[in-house]
Amino acid sequence: MGTATRPDAPSAPAATAPRAVEVRGLRKAYGERVALAGVSLDVLPGEIVGIIGRNGSGKTTLVECILGLRRADDGRVRVLGLDPQADRGRLRALVGCQLQESALPDRLRAGEALELFASLAAEPADPRALLAEWGLTGHRRTPFAALSGGQRQRLLVALALVTRPRVVFLDEMTTGLDPSARRTAWGLIDDIRRRGTTVVLVTHFMDEAERLCDRLVVLREGRVVGRGSPGELIARHAGQTRVTFTAAADVGFLRAVPGVRAVERTGGRVIVRGEGPLCALVGAALVARGLAPTDLRPVLPGLEDVFLALTGEEGA
Ligand SMILES: Nc1ncnc2c1ncn2[C@@H]1O[C@H](COP(=O)(O)OP(=O)(O)OP(=O)(O)O)[C@@H](O)[C@H]1O
Ligand SMILES: [Mg+2]
Repeated sequence: MGTATRPDAPSAPAATAPRAVEVRGLRKAYGERVALAGVSLDVLPGEIVGIIGRNGSGKTTLVECILGLRRADDGRVRVLGLDPQADRGRLRALVGCQLQESALPDRLRAGEALELFASLAAEPADPRALLAEWGLTGHRRTPFAALSGGQRQRLLVALALVTRPRVVFLDEMTTGLDPSARRTAWGLIDDIRRRGTTVVLVTHFMDEAERLCDRLVVLREGRVVGRGSPGELIARHAGQTRVTFTAAADVGFLRAVPGVRAVERTGGRVIVRGEGPLCALVGAALVARGLAPTDLRPVLPGLEDVFLALTGEEGA
């Protein structure tokens, strides 16, 4: 599946399609604290599915339960048709993961770590090529403890990929990466998807989710509160289009423009909310009144609006 198909990606896979990952009714509590309150999820082979949600919403717990690293209290998980608890040995060769809290022994060198992981796989990727791809060639002999935060993170992702897994789990892959390294990482994830790898990606970066994911699952307090392609979620939940500009004059007349639902002001900045070709109509109405703000621009609804709408404001 190429990125060109993404806007039409279905919000739910067909019932008969084989799953790379299948999760049904997953529940997990840590003592009194419920981390997962009945989560179901399907990932098709070759898809990139993103899991988004606020801190503490259960994303890492979900990934760890899918990987068999944590035992769920209830529910069913299958990865490539196998039970991650019972078939852990078989799955180890097929699944890669970069976990949020991963670390390596301090003195293990980057190149040694990759070669060690590669030696566990039947058909590993070339460790030197991976070092180059992830910008670590100059750090082949650097011990883990002496790598910077972003370099460690890139090494951990490279380690998740060196076994050429069929499914890879990346929990906050680009946290700590500089903007250039993030873009490189996105390109490399595109590449492995083109080679058929299925990717489950936890991320807090909405641009990353929109850029990479065919489908997204939104978690709130251990429950799925939204799922669909980025485009579907934006259309369904992101709300109205906005237009902003700076004006000192009273612009209350804009309320009469077709499609306008609200006109708000914060200081000199005006925000017009509504639907339809808002920017063009608001611009025309302003010009007709002799106003021509140079900073008139539309603020298109995006995944960040979806995130806020579905997961609530901070402190909620
Ligand atoms: N080992 C643990 N023991 C007790 N509670 C835990 C443990 N791990 C997670 N929790 C709790 O479970 C809930 C879900 O945590 P989890 O780490 O899955 O969230 P998350 O969505 O990955 O958050 P973040 O975005 O911060 O990584 C949180 O309330 C957290 O405090
Ligand atoms: Mg987490």
